[in-house]
Amino acid sequence: MGKIENRKLEHLDISLNKNVQFREKTTGFEKIAFKGIDLEYKALPEMDKGEVNLETEFLGKKFKSPLMVEAITGGAKEAGKINKDIAKACEALGIGMGLGSQRAMIEKPELSETYVVRDVAPTIFLAGNIGVTELGKIPASQIAEALEKVGADALAVHINAAQAAMQPEKETDFSGRVAEIKKLVKEIKKPVYVKEVGHGINLETAKALAKTGIKAIDVAGAGGTSWTAIDSFRGNKNLGETFRDIGIPTSQSIVECRKAFNGQIIASGGIRNGLDCAKALALGADICGIALPVLKAQQSGGSKAVQKYLERITEELRIAMFLAGAKTIGQLKGKVR
Ligand SMILES: Cc1cc2nc3c(=O)[nH]c(=O)nc-3n(C[C@H](O)[C@H](O)[C@H](O)COP(=O)(O)O)c2cc1C
Repeated sequence: MGKIENRKLEHLDISLNKNVQFREKTTGFEKIAFKGIDLEYKALPEMDKGEVNLETEFLGKKFKSPLMVEAITGGAKEAGKINKDIAKACEALGIGMGLGSQRAMIEKPELSETYVVRDVAPTIFLAGNIGVTELGKIPASQIAEALEKVGADALAVHINAAQAAMQPEKETDFSGRVAEIKKLVKEIKKPVYVKEVGHGINLETAKALAKTGIKAIDVAGAGGTSWTAIDSFRGNKNLGETFRDIGIPTSQSIVECRKAFNGQIIASGGIRNGLDCAKALALGADICGIALPVLKAQQSGGSKAVQKYLERITEELRIAMFLAGAKTIGQLKGKVR
């Protein structure tokens, strides 16, 4: 087995079997109002809960509700089944999905099959994925080809300095990456967006990204899965102890990105229920993304369990919107206190 396939399996194994959540820092969406962002509550919403309409559009594609499953995997045999299970559930619910980094299939084309989901999910928004440190090493034409192979609608470029600093592989050269993203946007015909992997994007980074021509930012903020924790289990555990909680809380990251960036925003990193999601949308995000809980649901009961979990989130979001008196995602904007 190749090094990358092995790393993928280690990531799955560690995230499923160790505690890899932030320990002290939270998303800012916690339940107690004075500790975080609270959703407006309207005792008289002047509407029927049945009037809530969750439909939205993200990067030109229709969503039945403002949700996507974040990039998780691809590139190992087990990953193929995980992707198909998740994709089936997303298709049934009319929501989006991100594939894991496609570096493995670019380096080893025989692994491409583990990313293919269009047979079970022909209509959903599907995002391909590549790490920013691959830009310059992998030509844009090869990235475009990898997107075509899986039928992706867009490309997510992940930025992961905190994660990389923990990794034994030491792929830590992040210089000149803003210029490389800008160049890639011109070379790839599909919409490109940038995502963190769980440590958030601050105002300064969002300002720099706003000038690259990307169409969206996925904040992947602090408070959910900690990638410094995951990768420190593969290398230096002491580093993980020190840096587990590094980053910008998801709620804060949405506010900072909204300030600097006019494109669409995905709120992710520790979104764990429909109320978190409603708060993120009220703060200015366009859709929400979830990763680790979806993977855990898939492991516990395949596609059906993923669908059930995401249906719960959707129903909670519907209730939250009803209680805030918002019939549409548009009406939810600004309903925080
Ligand atoms: C097992 C696993 C693998 C992941 N692999 C990728 C990846 O290849 N590319 C990427 O951009 N993000 C990757 N992520 C990060 C997620 O897309 C997401 O941004 C992050 O986990 C925060 O969301 P959460 O708190 O809901 O888990 C991965 C997450 C998990 C749990």
